[in-house]
This record gives sequence, structure tokens and C-alpha cells, in this order.
Amino acid sequence: RNCILVGVPVDSGKKRKGCLMGPDAYRTARLAETVTELGHSAVDWGNVAPAEESDTACANGLVHSLSETVAWAKAVSAVAQRAAADGFPIFLGGDHALSMGTVHGIAAHALEQDRPLFILWLDAHTDLHTPMTTDSGNLHGTPMGYISGLNGFDAFPPMPKAVPAGNICMIGLRSVDAVEKQMLKGSEMSAIDMRVIDEHGIAKPLSAFLDKVAAANGMLHVSLDVDFLDPTIAPAVGTTVPGGATFREAHHVMEILHESELVTSLDLAELNPFLDERGRTASLMVDLTASLLGRRVFDRQTPSFF
Ligand code: ARG
Ligand code: MN
Ligand code: MN
Ligand code: MN
Repeated sequence: RNCILVGVPVDSGKKRKGCLMGPDAYRTARLAETVTELGHSAVDWGNVAPAEESDTACANGLVHSLSETVAWAKAVSAVAQRAAADGFPIFLGGDHALSMGTVHGIAAHALEQDRPLFILWLDAHTDLHTPMTTDSGNLHGTPMGYISGLNGFDAFPPMPKAVPAGNICMIGLRSVDAVEKQMLKGSEMSAIDMRVIDEHGIAKPLSAFLDKVAAANGMLHVSLDVDFLDPTIAPAVGTTVPGGATFREAHHVMEILHESELVTSLDLAELNPFLDERGRTASLMVDLTASLLGRRVFDRQTPSFF
């Protein structure tokens, strides 16, 4: 794999600052070296800078830093589209508003390739708000709304093609607002909450989704929010929610994704290094990326004892 690291220090998607330090935390945690040690190539394209801000207006006065977030989305999309054409992009966030840019650019690339785009959203939250429905005003709670083509995103560039609900799978959910629940009712989005994982494990629902991607010869963008993970193993995020994915559940997801050979791009979102403990969350995110790129305990198939 030709891995392209793209720093996306978006920090406008919520009020608490710190995600702007994310890209450098991943570099410090040796992301590029880790990728190379696995036998892939790695180039670091440095950090994206936001486009120039233009005036935006929103009927919902609560919305925080709209112009800045739009400016980020524009710049990130352009780079994401180029990176997707060149190799396997890994986007180093940045808060989750960065996905408005990455998925916009990837969607443009998928359209060019005439291939359907699928999204795997690993997150405690659905991030399905729109600028009109958010009650926090935080746009990091809206990227899934944008990607899936909901109304209310007039300030943003229109999606090249909205990602169809049936192409979206969210895993790890445990904090969903009332409006978001309403929007999910009758939607074809696959929304796997923690209870489903308790009862069936994490592999089964994931494999069902991957079968769909494979059958459609789709491209698969994975968006990993730090708060997908349990706060006891990943404290460096502003929106921790108890009861998240365990260390092994998270690695298992990544190992399955590697074996599927379906993933074509990756977001690492919401890391706030200011809240970390001796870099442990940044290091865990790097290790999860390593599992996605083929790190395993043994260089052999699982023995068939059973
Ligand atoms: N639903 C909440 C909100 O709209 C939380 C969103 C959290 N999103 C995230 N990317 N961490 O504010
Ligand atoms: Mn999120
Ligand atoms: Mn989240
Ligand atoms: Mn909310």
C-alpha cells in the first residue's frame, strides 16, 4: 500500500480546543514509521490549511464557527480527492467535522471511478445532525447528516453524490440524540449499538456489512472517532461516553477490515492530545491503524483446532 498521511487539524467543530494538535501527536506516536515497518510505503503530505472564509449565515443562531468549518471542508475535500487517486489516504484529525471534507473528496473520486462509496462509522455518536437540528451548535455532530444528503447544509459545497443510507454502517453507538433517533427510524442505515455488540459480538454485524461492500465492488471509507473506544483505554477525547469498545473489540474490527482488503481510506478523528495521558490514546490509535494495515501476532493463518 502507498499510504498518504494527511494532517487535518480541524478544531472548529466544537467549542473545546485541542484537536488541532492531533496530527502532530500521531506523528510523534510514530504513525509513518509504523506503517513503513509493516512493509507499506508512507508519505506525509503535511497539514491541510483551511480555504479562505466567506460569509455564511445560518438560521440557527446556535451554530458555532460555521464559516471556518466550511472553509476547512473545501480545502480538505480537494486534498482528499487527490490523495484517494494517489494511494491509501490516512487523515490525521482534527475533530469529526473533518469528515465533511474527507468524504466529500472521496465521494468525488468514487464518482470519477464509477464505483459506489460505503462508509463505516466507528463512533459512540451517529453525528447525524444538520446545522438546523443541532442543539449543541457543534458541527462535529453533523458530518453524517451532510454525507448522507440531509437538507440544511446550504453553506457547504453540495456532495458530489450523497452516500445512500444502505451504504452506511455505524458501529459502537451509545449516545444518540432524540432527533437523531427519529431520523434513523425507517432509515436503511445500519446502526449497531453497544447492546447488539454485547449480544452478538462485533464481528458478525461488521462482516454482514463488508459482504455488501464486496458484492457491490465498493470503495470503503472508515471513519474512526476516538470515542468509539472505551474512555478507560482512550481518555483523549472531549466527548467520552462510558461503555465503549474494548481494546480487543477495536483491534478485532481492524483485523477483520485488513483481511477483507476492502478499505480504501481512513479518518482518525477527535483525538485531543491536551486530554491525553502520556500519549496513550495517540499510541492506541496508531496501533489500531497498524492492525488495519496487517499487523498480526503470527505470520500464519489462525490454526484450525476446532
Ligand atoms: N450529539 C451530540 C451533539 O450534537 C454529540 C456529538 C459528538 N460528536 C462527535 N463527533 N464527538 O453535540
Ligand atoms: Mn464522531
Ligand atoms: Mn463521537
Ligand atoms: Mn445534541
